[in-house]
Amino acid sequence: MSSIEFVKLDKVYKGLNSFHAVKGVDLSINDGEFVVFVGPSGCGKSTLLRMIAGLEDISGGDLYFGKTRVNAMAPKERGIGMVFQSYALYPHMSVYDNMAFGLTLEKKSSQTIDQKVREVAGILQLEHLLERKPKELSGGQRQRVAIGRAIVRQPNVFLFDEPLSNLDASLRVQMRIEITKLHQKLKTTSIYVTHDQIEAMTMADKIVVLNQGQIMQVGSPLEIYNNPANTFVAGFMGSPTMNFVQVNAQGSQMTPTPCDNPRSFEVPFQHQGPATLGIRPEHIELSPLPGALAVECQISVVEHLGNETMLYLTSELCEQPLVVAVAGEKSPQIGEDLTIYLPAERCHLFDANGEAVTRLETSKPN
Ligand SMILES: Nc1ncnc2c1ncn2[C@@H]1O[C@H](COP(=O)(O)OP(=O)(O)OP(=O)(O)O)[C@@H](O)[C@H]1O
Ligand SMILES: [Mg+2]
Repeated sequence: MSSIEFVKLDKVYKGLNSFHAVKGVDLSINDGEFVVFVGPSGCGKSTLLRMIAGLEDISGGDLYFGKTRVNAMAPKERGIGMVFQSYALYPHMSVYDNMAFGLTLEKKSSQTIDQKVREVAGILQLEHLLERKPKELSGGQRQRVAIGRAIVRQPNVFLFDEPLSNLDASLRVQMRIEITKLHQKLKTTSIYVTHDQIEAMTMADKIVVLNQGQIMQVGSPLEIYNNPANTFVAGFMGSPTMNFVQVNAQGSQMTPTPCDNPRSFEVPFQHQGPATLGIRPEHIELSPLPGALAVECQISVVEHLGNETMLYLTSELCEQPLVVAVAGEKSPQIGEDLTIYLPAERCHLFDANGEAVTRLETSKPN
């Protein structure tokens, strides 16, 4: 097992299409921690994983496993188990042989190999499938074999690069729970890349939000959700995304700027000048409450998700639609007028550079 430390880690892809993919990333990952990397396509998630695995050389900075600097260590010395999105099992080999392959290369005795493969097959409930070929397995079973293949070598660190994105929704949920259980059992330091918000929120001890090769925020899932550090994180984490309203701040009074008929409203922040007010769709209310900003809207789109319904509303508050999540049993109609209420204590405030303004201590949401 191992802690991992990035110190000013840099990656420049050289060559015709030279590209600065990772820019001075500092990060500490504790021994046994489950860390999730999220960020838009091309932000450098896979590059970072490949640098940890030793599959991509490091252009600048230092990478440590525990106290050992590993920049120049060969991949096979690093004790990494990696599971990819396309997990490419050997099609002509049985499940057993697929899992045994790495140990065979390491010239382990057949007795050791047999013991390890059967132990891991037990953990992943693959015992009854050991003689099958990959094509005779379901997607979830194949995924478990790919994970098994990584586990048998008892890596110090697991790297997962969108391992579930090829699976259907229910299998994803099942595998997500299995990977979480596995981590609770093995407590191996793990880094997991995903586009899936729910995977990030439910699996992570720590989420790292990346954008354009840089870290935007590091925190527990609830820290990231409750206190996004900037408009990027606020807009990226949460589905549907947070609503943003341009305002002019005078102390704690916010005046929405796009309105013809502006009213100000008080929020638990202190700021001066142009700013962005953020509020999540699930925090907007349909009934009046004290201190909330009332906004008259018209329903332009209704999305029924079953358990809840998303309303897209036009209003004078902002040009883009305001999104509100309401209980699924409501049946609002397109074109209907609606008054919504923005509770002051649920609002977020970002300065003109998009950095979060610190909430006044007295009024944390509960
Ligand atoms: N060999 C290469 N040469 C030049 N640029 C590269 C090379 N490999 C990757 N890149 C660029 O580096 C950036 C980071 O790529 P990376 O694969 O790490 O992104 P990612 O965050 O994993 O994206 P995705 O979510 O789409 O998998 C991208 O902009 C990509 O185009
Ligand atoms: Mg990738």
